[in-house]
Amino acid sequence: MSREKIVVIDFGGQYNQLVARRIRECKVYCEIYSYKTDIETIKKMNPKGIILTGGPDSCYGENAATCNQALFELGIPVLGLCYGAQLMMHVLGGHVCKAPVREYGKILVDIDKNSMLFNNISEKTICWMSHNDYIETVAPGFQIIAHTADCPVAAAQWEEKKLYAIQFHPEVLHTTEGTKMLSNFIFHICDCRGDWKMDSFVENSIKEIRKKVGKGKVLCALSGGVDSSVAAVLLAKAVGSQLTCVFVDHGLLRKNEGDEVEEVFGPHGPYSLNFIRVNAQKRFYEKLKGIDEPEQKRKIIGEEFIRVFEEEAKKIGAVDFLVQGTIYPDVVESGLGGESAVIKSHHNVGGLPDYVNFEEIIEPLRDLFKDEVRKAGLELGIPETLVYRQPFPGPGLGIRIVGEVTAEKVRMVQEADAIYREEIAKAGLDKSIGQYFAALTNMRSVGVMGDERTYDYAVALRAVNTIDFMTAETAEIPFSVLTKVMNRIINEVKGINRVLYDLTSKPPGTIEFE
Ligand code: XMP
Repeated sequence: MSREKIVVIDFGGQYNQLVARRIRECKVYCEIYSYKTDIETIKKMNPKGIILTGGPDSCYGENAATCNQALFELGIPVLGLCYGAQLMMHVLGGHVCKAPVREYGKILVDIDKNSMLFNNISEKTICWMSHNDYIETVAPGFQIIAHTADCPVAAAQWEEKKLYAIQFHPEVLHTTEGTKMLSNFIFHICDCRGDWKMDSFVENSIKEIRKKVGKGKVLCALSGGVDSSVAAVLLAKAVGSQLTCVFVDHGLLRKNEGDEVEEVFGPHGPYSLNFIRVNAQKRFYEKLKGIDEPEQKRKIIGEEFIRVFEEEAKKIGAVDFLVQGTIYPDVVESGLGGESAVIKSHHNVGGLPDYVNFEEIIEPLRDLFKDEVRKAGLELGIPETLVYRQPFPGPGLGIRIVGEVTAEKVRMVQEADAIYREEIAKAGLDKSIGQYFAALTNMRSVGVMGDERTYDYAVALRAVNTIDFMTAETAEIPFSVLTKVMNRIINEVKGINRVLYDLTSKPPGTIEFE
């Protein structure tokens, strides 16, 4: 039985990964492709359905992102969302123009007609709108199935052709019945079965890895984070002793983390992997000397990382494959998957530099979202403490120190972060906050300690709640806990005389502080 798939065509909108997530939550596999992907490629994938996402353009504008009319003639159900809906109408002969009233936020939508898309949906339902243009008249063959006070076409369908257009965003949770609408599309209109599960992912991946690797030697970049740990255990199950895991301690890990990783994956841990720890702290600090531009730091750390592996690989002898724990949001954010702008370079994504002597990279988690990686981890029998570990970026503290990285600054941020984490856990908040850490700002200011004037660094505490890491809200930590953390940091960490709490959400901020 072949794996059923929904294809999401990306027109550059901000919620596009959410669309893919919602579909996968319905246990249907789904992938995101740029709108530039040619129609033959899409046809070959034989998708059960196609979803066109939102996007920033006006579909009637010059150079607007567009699609081939033939996409609507494949006999495959198509659902257009926001820009995708407008584009469908525009391409098929409807009229889209600037709306007299821009709709933004939660809007009451009236459902006008029976439609499979709105099966079991209330007649009046709250939906998330965000548009400047609107569909003034639908294309021939279409029927209006919903409207709002300011928008004559909130949804339309051409039932026989299985073409559906929705002006609002069902993928955003503010659309109260959005998930139901998407599941109506994938189950009642696309006839999906919904059998994409983690146990089948694990089983299939192991088979695929064995086939690809054969008798080859595999080298795994293990960081101790969730992604690379799950990738390593998956590989260990697939190819056993053909796998060597190399753990590079780049000196940018959290306090004591290097030893903790060794305890779990080292010779005395439960996995009996071939495990090599490389203490490369000095090399990384040397390379980062005088560099304060964040993208440059990321690139340097990434390249040095690969070099260390290359050297280890040479020591081991010929190595055929390199494993990395890249996950789907890394792929999309790096501009390789869909259409979203490159926000930052994730050092673990992309092609191989020329000087690397591995034949190929294996990225077994490349198609998964974070929560799916965790599910796969549990399926593989990895302990919950490891699986539900805080996310930690590949470039580590290198991107939690604003400005130049030095050993001394690493010490400061490690100490402050350890105190912060300890107090959060003591207050019983560690499971309820999505991600929290301390970052060292590049600001020094005057303070007074005892009778002495100080001129030291300010540390910033960050804590966010997030479902998908694409957007995030600042977590509300009780003031008493923050005060305690502040007192301890200033008393215990030499070089820090000020503690700030970062209130910024994402957007406009990012989760990391670099
Ligand atoms: P941002 O800062 O982009 O972070 O809002 C979103 C999530 O991604 C993590 N992150 C990274 N993870 N390599 C990684 O493996 C990276 O280069 C990287 N940069 C950010 C970040 O910790 C947060 O969970």
